[in-house]
Amino acid sequence: MSATETERPQAVYALGHTPEEYERLRMQARVWEAGTGRLLDQIGLGPGASCLDAGCGPGETMRMMAERVGPAGRVLGIDADASLGSLALAMLHGAGHRQCAFQAHDVTAGEPIPGTPFDLVYARLLLFHLPQRAEVLARLWEAVAPGGYLLVQDYDLRSVSTLPELDSVAEVGRVITGAFGAAGADVSAGTRLPQLFAQAGAGTPDGTDVTGRIEPLATGRVLLERVMHSLLPAALAHGVTTEAGSAAALAALDRDASRFGDHQMLWPLLIGAWKQKEQA
Ligand SMILES: C[S@@+](CC[C@H](N)C(=O)[O-])C[C@H]1O[C@@H](n2cnc3c(N)ncnc32)[C@H](O)[C@@H]1O
Repeated sequence: MSATETERPQAVYALGHTPEEYERLRMQARVWEAGTGRLLDQIGLGPGASCLDAGCGPGETMRMMAERVGPAGRVLGIDADASLGSLALAMLHGAGHRQCAFQAHDVTAGEPIPGTPFDLVYARLLLFHLPQRAEVLARLWEAVAPGGYLLVQDYDLRSVSTLPELDSVAEVGRVITGAFGAAGADVSAGTRLPQLFAQAGAGTPDGTDVTGRIEPLATGRVLLERVMHSLLPAALAHGVTTEAGSAAALAALDRDASRFGDHQMLWPLLIGAWKQKEQA
């Protein structure tokens, strides 16, 4: 094993696998639905196409793909979390999207992506978490059919803030960023997508997109609290905060959200990049 490999952080998924985290993922997916739908339409996803959603989570993007490809299309979701995948598939089949399938698959395991090739290979908020993001992206690029598309959306967390600034939001942001970083995530993965595409052998993206959201702290606080809650085991394990420190930070956020609920909070930016593969 090389020095780089031994120094590389372990890929432990920092957000965990609790029912509360699954619900947070569904809430987050609803927030970004329009921003993702716009890109699916921009690349012309239409009836009969085959799609892969890598790191599909609760299956909300699979639903948007199924609505566009129709019954003649094919939508495969893969995720390392088989329980979440089963819930996603039950939701999709319950809604009548029988063209959807799920397969448990760890994209870092070095095994071939199942069901290749696809007209669209998509991943949202997956590469962010993976220290091996360039290798994984290269494997996803290989899974694209000639003439098909690779489309990725990922966060840049540096935008998270309120205006005027608040120490409580900055402290919660510090813990979130620190815990993700300690677990091997790249909190600026979204902005690095063009470089990642090049490293993965896909070349320069054909296009990029930035989607954002602001909302009053009175409601935006929910994002910070839920992410902090899901990340707490990782934050404690890596010494980014303590039980007492995290409780104090959340209490301060609670006080500020009551006093300054009208301060506007900027969410992470959701950055997209896409590339069409040459026809054979
Ligand atoms: C933040 S969630 C995003 C879910 C979904 N793409 C969305 O945007 O709603 C990240 C997902 O990636 C999955 N994941 C993390 N590491 C993975 C790996 N090594 N292989 C496959 N899936 C992974 C997690 O289980 C989780 O469902």
